[in-house]
Amino acid sequence: MVMDEALCRAQPNLVNLVLAYFKRHNDCLKLVCDPMQFEGGERTKNSYFHVSEIHSKVEMHHIDRHSYVIAVGGGALLDMVGLASSTAHRGVRHVRIPSTTLSQADSGVGVKNGINAFGKKNFIGAFTPPFAVINDFDLLSSLSDRDKRNGYIEAVKVALIRDHEFYDWIEAEAEALAAFSPEPMRRLIHRCAELHINHIATSGDPFEFGSARPLDFGHWAAHKLEQLSEYRIRHGEAVAIGIALDVVYARRTGHLTAGTVDRILTLIESLGFELFANELLHEDESGALQVITGLEEFREHLGGDLTITLLRELGQGFEVHEMNLPLVIESIYELRGRQAGREQSVIPARA
Ligand SMILES: NC(=O)c1ccc[n+]([C@@H]2O[C@H](COP(=O)([O-])OP(=O)(O)OC[C@H]3O[C@@H](n4cnc5c(N)ncnc54)[C@H](O)[C@@H]3O)[C@@H](O)[C@H]2O)c1
Ligand SMILES: [Zn+2]
Repeated sequence: MVMDEALCRAQPNLVNLVLAYFKRHNDCLKLVCDPMQFEGGERTKNSYFHVSEIHSKVEMHHIDRHSYVIAVGGGALLDMVGLASSTAHRGVRHVRIPSTTLSQADSGVGVKNGINAFGKKNFIGAFTPPFAVINDFDLLSSLSDRDKRNGYIEAVKVALIRDHEFYDWIEAEAEALAAFSPEPMRRLIHRCAELHINHIATSGDPFEFGSARPLDFGHWAAHKLEQLSEYRIRHGEAVAIGIALDVVYARRTGHLTAGTVDRILTLIESLGFELFANELLHEDESGALQVITGLEEFREHLGGDLTITLLRELGQGFEVHEMNLPLVIESIYELRGRQAGREQSVIPARA
C-alpha cells in the first residue's frame, strides 16, 4: 500500500485501520510490508524518485501480476503510483482509493497515470485502467477547504460540455457546495465520476490516439499556469481560470452569448474560485505572453492537429483547430479587469 503522507497525518488512525483490516482478512490477504508513505501534492510528481522507490519494493517483496499495489491519496499521488504499478513487470494490478474531491470525481476513475518532467505536466506516463477504484466519502473529512473545492471545477467542466441538467443542478446547489454541505458534495462527485467513466467507456478513444481530448476543456491554459506558478496554483484552481478564459474567448468569437458567459463566470466565482492569476501575464524575453506556449504544448502532448474544446451553449462542447491569439490576449485582459472590479467592490467605502 502506498499512502498520502498528509492524509495519514490528518487522519492518524488510518494506518492502524489498514493494518487491522489486513490482519482480520489474513486468510486471503497478505500485506507484504507496512504502508509506504509519500508526500502528496504536485511535488510527488516532480521527480522520478518515488516511482523508483515503489519499483524497488515491488522487486523486494516479489509482487507479481497477480498481486496488487493499492494507492490511497490525492490525484497527484495516484498518478505517480499508477505510473509505478503500470510499469513494474509491464503492469501489476493497481487499486486506487482517492482521498480528494477531485480525485474521486475525476482523476481516480480515469485511465491516465504519470509524472511531470522537463517542466511539462504528465510528460512521463502510461494509460492503464485501474483494477478497481474505491471512493470512500469519509476520507474527504480532513481536506482543506481549498482541496474540497478543487474537485468542483471538474464537475463544472464536464457539465458544461456534456450535461446541461447537471450544470443547472450545480448552479442551484452552488451555495450549499460553497459551504461544503456533504449531500450535494457526494452527489456532485458521483455524477462527475459517472460522466468521466461514460466518456472513457463510450467515446471510442479511451487512450487518446486521436487529436482530441474533450475532457480537457479549459486545460490548455491550466496546465501552463500550473507550471508557470511552479505549482503554487493547484490543478483545480488553474482549470477554473482556464475555463473562464475559454468561455470569454468563445463569446469574443461569437459562439456564446454575453448572458451565458456571465452565468458561467458567476457560478465559478460563487463556488469560491478566482478567475485570474498574474501568471497569465508573465512574459518571455521577447515580451510575448508565456501562457500562449501552452497551446503548442497541449497539441504536442497528443500530436496531430491542435484541437481545443470550446462551448456552443451550456452542455454542448465543440472543437476548433486554431485559436485567434489577439482574442485570447483580449480575453486575458478582460478577466484581469473583472478581477480588479471584484477586488474594488470588496474595499469598504471611505467615510
Ligand atoms: N490522471 C488523470 O486523469 C487526472 C485528471 C485530473 C487531474 N489529475 C492530476 O491530479 C492532481 C491534482 O489532484 P488533487 O486535486 O487530488 O490534489 P493533490 O493530489 O495535489 O492533493 C492536494 C493536497 O491534499 C493532500 N491530501 C490528500 N488527501 C487528503 C485528505 N483526505 N486529507 C488531508 N489532506 C489530503 C495532499 O497530500 C496534497 O497536499 C494534479 O497533478 C492533476 O494533474 C490527473
Ligand atoms: Zn483536470
